[in-house]
Amino acid sequence: MKKIISVVGARPNFMKVAPLHKAFRNYDGQIEHLICHTGQHYDEKMSKVFFNDLELPKPRFYLGVGSGSHAEQTARVMIEFEKVLQEEKPDLVIVVGDVNSTIACSLVASKLHIKVAHVEAGLRSFDRTMPEEINRLLTDSIADYLFVTEKSGLENLRREGVPENKIFFTGNVMIDSLINYLPKASALDTPSCYSLEKGKYILVTLHRPSNVDSRDYLEKLIHMLNTVSEKRKLIFPIHPRTKNNMQKFGLYDSLCSNIILTEPIGYIDFLSLTQNAELIITDSGGIQEESTYLGIQCITVRNNTERPVTVEVGTNQLIGTDLAKVEDAALSVLNGNFKKGRIPELWDGRAADRIAEILIKQL
Ligand code: UD1
Repeated sequence: MKKIISVVGARPNFMKVAPLHKAFRNYDGQIEHLICHTGQHYDEKMSKVFFNDLELPKPRFYLGVGSGSHAEQTARVMIEFEKVLQEEKPDLVIVVGDVNSTIACSLVASKLHIKVAHVEAGLRSFDRTMPEEINRLLTDSIADYLFVTEKSGLENLRREGVPENKIFFTGNVMIDSLINYLPKASALDTPSCYSLEKGKYILVTLHRPSNVDSRDYLEKLIHMLNTVSEKRKLIFPIHPRTKNNMQKFGLYDSLCSNIILTEPIGYIDFLSLTQNAELIITDSGGIQEESTYLGIQCITVRNNTERPVTVEVGTNQLIGTDLAKVEDAALSVLNGNFKKGRIPELWDGRAADRIAEILIKQL
């Protein structure tokens, strides 16, 4: 029996570990799969609701690290996770994505000579001012098994000198979750709960430090959203970082009435809102991929993306941070200029099964 501990920390991790947990259930008696929640995200709406929606078991370990500076948060995860590993001595630690918990747990495991698998390896924005890019680079440089979601990831890892026998192109576990829960989302009519007409509203999510941490830029961003809202209703589930900054900068009440501001929304309701949107405006990584799978128009308010397949093959448009251009691009979509897209290779709902199959042979 091999013992595997998967790490979840922040909101985008839960939908990546859920399909792995399900895939490991096919190896009963061979694999014991335990979940460790670092507590990087701790609000009910950023964490607990996802466990319910994604049918994840209660985490075996909860580290309760909470917020703090990058150093504080990463260090606290490391100190607490080391205790778990010393006690449990697993055969493998699985980390997903690019959050602070990802690098913190990889580093601890690798120094204890415990094998590390990184799911969603190889993505690169080539922008080292993003904390996530540092987390991705460092995690990939010490991981033993690197599971890649899109071909750009293979090229990046090869260029960085990662040996071929560590790299596996297995597809996208986040899309596994999407495919699994799409029927449930389709059965809901979340847009109508917010008085939104299907196919006639814009879904907005913005939380990157580069977009929301400066008062000046955030004010311009809100102004742009207000202008676009003259054409369509917007729904804006607001991330705690964005909400805190809007309050701090006195901008919280400056949104027009055509913009529905909500708390963070659970996984299945959010999927329903994504699936029925006319357009998405975002700076999230995961939503670029989800919209591409669903063929929904997406405008990314960033200068780079670590997920180029969503632009090359999918419905994502990487517009940059010039807000006049973002506004033009949004209005153009609303005028019917849709970008056609296809579903990227191996985004077929079976990525977690492939990963489990590989790991069972390797361990
Ligand atoms: C983190 C990830 C980012 C991911 C995002 C998704 C890193 C470096 N960043 O960014 O890659 O896209 O999660 O949400 O790991 N807060 C709450 N409640 C919570 C969590 C956070 O109120 O449950 C507040 C805290 O005040 C905190 C701020 O939000 O200071 C930011 O949280 P943090 O985890 O530091 O980074 P995110 O911006 O969420």
